[in-house]
Amino acid sequence: MASELTYRGGGTSTAAGAGAGGYSPKPSKPLAWLPRAARYAVAEHRPLFALAGMLIAAAVISIASPSASSSSSTSTSTGGAASSYSNNNNPLARFPVEPAHHRDVATRHFVGGKVPLGLKRKALRVLVTGGAGFVGSHLVDRLLERGDSVIVVDNFFTGRKDNVLHHLNDPNFEMIRHDVVEPILLEVDQIYHLACPASPVHYKYNPIKTIKTNVVGTLNMLGLAKRINARFLLTSTSEVYGDPLQHPQVETYWGNVNPIGVRSCYDEGKRTAETLTMDYHRGANLEVRIARIFNTYGPRMCIDDGRVVSNFVAQALRKEPLTVYGDGKQTRSFQYVSDLVEGLMKLMEGEHVGPFNLGNPGEFTMLELAKVVQDTIDPNARIEFRKNTQDDPHKRKPDISRAKEFLGWEPKIPLREGLPLMVSDFRKRIFGDQDAAATTTGNQQG
Ligand SMILES: NC(=O)c1ccc[n+]([C@@H]2O[C@H](COP(=O)([O-])OP(=O)(O)OC[C@H]3O[C@@H](n4cnc5c(N)ncnc54)[C@H](O)[C@@H]3O)[C@@H](O)[C@H]2O)c1
Repeated sequence: MASELTYRGGGTSTAAGAGAGGYSPKPSKPLAWLPRAARYAVAEHRPLFALAGMLIAAAVISIASPSASSSSSTSTSTGGAASSYSNNNNPLARFPVEPAHHRDVATRHFVGGKVPLGLKRKALRVLVTGGAGFVGSHLVDRLLERGDSVIVVDNFFTGRKDNVLHHLNDPNFEMIRHDVVEPILLEVDQIYHLACPASPVHYKYNPIKTIKTNVVGTLNMLGLAKRINARFLLTSTSEVYGDPLQHPQVETYWGNVNPIGVRSCYDEGKRTAETLTMDYHRGANLEVRIARIFNTYGPRMCIDDGRVVSNFVAQALRKEPLTVYGDGKQTRSFQYVSDLVEGLMKLMEGEHVGPFNLGNPGEFTMLELAKVVQDTIDPNARIEFRKNTQDDPHKRKPDISRAKEFLGWEPKIPLREGLPLMVSDFRKRIFGDQDAAATTTGNQQG
């Protein structure tokens, strides 16, 4: 081995000597140490041909490769969605609805995708925080109805067991008394995060707890979603627009919120919850969805929770005067709960992060609402004016163009149709009237 190395070195020095014009013995055959076939290949420049062949083959394979074409089509579809925002006439142009990560969508059990004919959609495990509340319990109805397994996590601050009692014997339903301010570990595919008191009476009752629920509670649920790679939906609110200076409110509007007022624990809490949600999306690659919910009404709302529809309905049923705060000219839009639930599910299953306004654009002054309640319950109900509360927004009406375009969603149930469904539920709960029309259930609302 050592002699061979010495020999090759000697050959090099020989050649150098020849080049120098000194005595040059008959040069030994170059590469004589190689086997005969290799020597032939080198002499005929075969490696060059082989190399060129390999390069051509590599080029052909990369052009025809399916992975290359699929990745290019992925970026095309993403680009397609984004390009719809590049239209300058589009009011949403400077605020793209971020599409979900295609990698995750492709690997997640049919979520958001079409199920091939003849195959049953895979049932999902879904966590609904605040699932014993008004909106949450209707969402639970629909999720169970479509065959999913549902875990409700609720501390019963404003929620009631009664709202989900009809599911207690369903093997696909579980209920955990738990406060989202404390961490919890569960295995699910999707998390609908609703836990938070929603009416001013409730969220002002303990403002510190309210903002803790919004910030620490949302952090805990985002952390859980990240850990188990679940898709996360935040129910935010139209309150993030504060007392809006733009009307109707589009998602691009950043709001006019008092950061130190008595409603800030809720308004700013939800704004922070949105920030956390987007930071987890961008920073931890979490699949998230954000809904900004506008005033919603329907059966199972808390009676006497201070929200205007429940207030008016309960007052009219009890033959009390309808209390109107301020001059009654402030406006709100009212969405029936089944419309909202459909919007939330479409958002969760769809491809876009949001935020999306989910509300009914039909706009009513408080006095107009009082008139609808009088027509529905008691034409003789009196109206009583009271001093308005601090930071009560003057106008509220969602622009839902984005939800229409990207979720294919819009509300279907007008106030005059939805209100009687709520009235029969309230009548039953206030008077224990078993003869009243049956409480509206998920089925009726579908
Ligand atoms: N209903 C609306 O008009 C409306 C409008 C905008 C936004 N939202 C949002 O929708 C969600 C549901 O609202 P809702 O009207 O059903 O209110 P709700 O008060 O009826 O329901 C909230 C539920 O969350 C539970 N909860 C509260 N704090 C909790 C905590 N720390 N841990 C665990 N559970 C907790 C309550 O017990 C209740 O069951 C809320 O996040 C709310 O901010 C609702």
